[in-house]
Amino acid sequence: MSPQIHPLKDLSQLVSLSKRRGFVFQSSEIYGGLGSCWDYGPLGSQFKLNVKAAWWNAMTRRPDVVGLDAAILMHPQVWQASGHLDTFTDPLVDCKECKNRFREDHGTKDGQVSCPKCGSSNVTEARNFNLMFKTFMGPVENDGSVVYLRPETAQGIFVNFENVQTSARKKIPFGIAQIGKSFRNEITPGNFIFRTREFEQMEMQYFVKPEMADDFYAQWKQTRWNFLLRLGLNEGRLRFSEHGKDELAHYAKAADDVEYQFPFGWQELEGIHNRGDFDLSQHQKSSGKKLEYFDEAAKEKYVPYVIETAIGCDRLCLALLCDAYREEVTVNDNGKEDRRVVLGLKPELAPYKAACLPLSKKEPLQNVAKKIQEDLSQDWSIDYDEAGSIGKRYRRQDEVGTPFCITIDFDTESDQKVTVRHRDTMEQERVSIDQLRNYIAQKFILNW
Ligand code: GAP
Repeated sequence: MSPQIHPLKDLSQLVSLSKRRGFVFQSSEIYGGLGSCWDYGPLGSQFKLNVKAAWWNAMTRRPDVVGLDAAILMHPQVWQASGHLDTFTDPLVDCKECKNRFREDHGTKDGQVSCPKCGSSNVTEARNFNLMFKTFMGPVENDGSVVYLRPETAQGIFVNFENVQTSARKKIPFGIAQIGKSFRNEITPGNFIFRTREFEQMEMQYFVKPEMADDFYAQWKQTRWNFLLRLGLNEGRLRFSEHGKDELAHYAKAADDVEYQFPFGWQELEGIHNRGDFDLSQHQKSSGKKLEYFDEAAKEKYVPYVIETAIGCDRLCLALLCDAYREEVTVNDNGKEDRRVVLGLKPELAPYKAACLPLSKKEPLQNVAKKIQEDLSQDWSIDYDEAGSIGKRYRRQDEVGTPFCITIDFDTESDQKVTVRHRDTMEQERVSIDQLRNYIAQKFILNW
């Protein structure tokens, strides 16, 4: 009988799996945790790395996009010029009844502000709160030594526009891609790794001739949509949402969010923005350095427009995990329920590509299993597990998304074959050990 499939109902199912299996732990947990900061465990860090690699390759293997890794700490003038010091603020409101502190827009309904926690409308006037974290550079803590933890990676790209363009000898249109940490002192972080104060962004700024900006904006919207589908996200849980003129960030001429339907509702996953020439012009003015592009063919000079694609890596990881999680329930002849938790991640993203499972702890089987693990580990991350019944071991791999289980049994020594079990179909095939590598490589390409 085919099983009933239950998608993720509640974020708590994923939070518990993440902790139990080593995807995500609360930061400083032994001290009671630190608000909205999270650590990626052995499986989570590998998964996150795979997500970053997929993004990085999709960007930088294009002939028109190059990479960058800029410092988190930047000259304080950057944030004056970028507008972050003056306008990167959230309106903060305090509830006079329950002392809850919240973002005004999180408590506004039909134009009325009331506390989202206790419902009281006895609240303070909103005051602007800057989201940038401040620290001091050097041994003296005074106004002259203040530096900020970057709230977006984009500015590292803008200030390096000239360096990258000349050193990589790029002609417009071209893009610069970067992955790195950003920090925002969010008033109301939450929903696990959805909104945190320290997070990783994957941003790409594409420099274009101003009159071509609308065309490239449309192209990048499509490119990014296709990328999210390629990673396996369910198209029915994705949609575009265009920012109205009054919602636009201080730098944007146009903006669309790709939203994902999380268990807690539709929320922004990625932003695609037309930033015009705002940033390069501001840095040109503030630094006194020319940030113009000279188009040799047309013999004209201009400050390029920027089309930006910006996605949070942690937020994408959360969307992928929510999307991949499923429970399969089969009722057997005695009316007993059998429940299988599966993370149906694309193999490209799964932390382990395969697991080697010797059917017994006897040495000859162990040795073969370890040798297979060692051989395949040259190409992929491969788990090894000899503890517990084979059924339990399969289930352990299913719930962390391992696409293939390789069982080494009592016939393996004589026929030099193993059984490969597929995560999604649970089908099993007998494969020669010397064909395993090709078999797995082919299945990656053909089946997913
Ligand atoms: N450079 C443009 C920029 O930073 P943004 O819309 O503020 O634009 C881009 O951020 C993406 O970064 C968001 O779509 C989201 O995926 C991620 N992001 C922003 N704030 C975040 C937070 N506090 N926690 C996790 N991810 C965040």
